[in-house]
Amino acid sequence: MNARANTCEDLRDLAEQATGQAYAPYSRLHVGAALRSVSGWTYTGSNVENAAFPIGMCAERAAIAAAVQAEGSHFRLEAIAVAAVSAKDGELLPITPCGACRQAIVEFGPDALVSFHTPEGAWLEISADALLPYRFSFPQA
Ligand code: THU
Repeated sequence: MNARANTCEDLRDLAEQATGQAYAPYSRLHVGAALRSVSGWTYTGSNVENAAFPIGMCAERAAIAAAVQAEGSHFRLEAIAVAAVSAKDGELLPITPCGACRQAIVEFGPDALVSFHTPEGAWLEISADALLPYRFSFPQA
């Protein structure tokens, strides 16, 4: 946790740095995420894989868990960046948050800004709402 990520460029740098903490011996895709909470703090996460594949954890949800751990149920998400690097050659690869991570992102910040690297090689910033239309929400009784 720190308070240094004031711009989306800062968050993107932190996401790229967080790829260095990934544990991904199976996919060899090192993913890092960095988020800024509405209260201004920054949290990072990396993917953590397991020999039992389905129990692996994505970088975005690891960062969200760190934020909830630190800020509790008041945590609200302002912005998140995700980056991926190939363990084979160190190349930065395009990645977008998976469906489960999109649902986790909107839980804490439907208006949050989400940054990721497109196949064209540029960063894209889009709202969480636009990334997951018609998402599940808990039906009111
Ligand atoms: N992964 C993430 O960390 N975030 C995503 O949004 C998509 C996928 C990870 C999970 C797994 O460790 C690896 O990337 C390959 O799917």
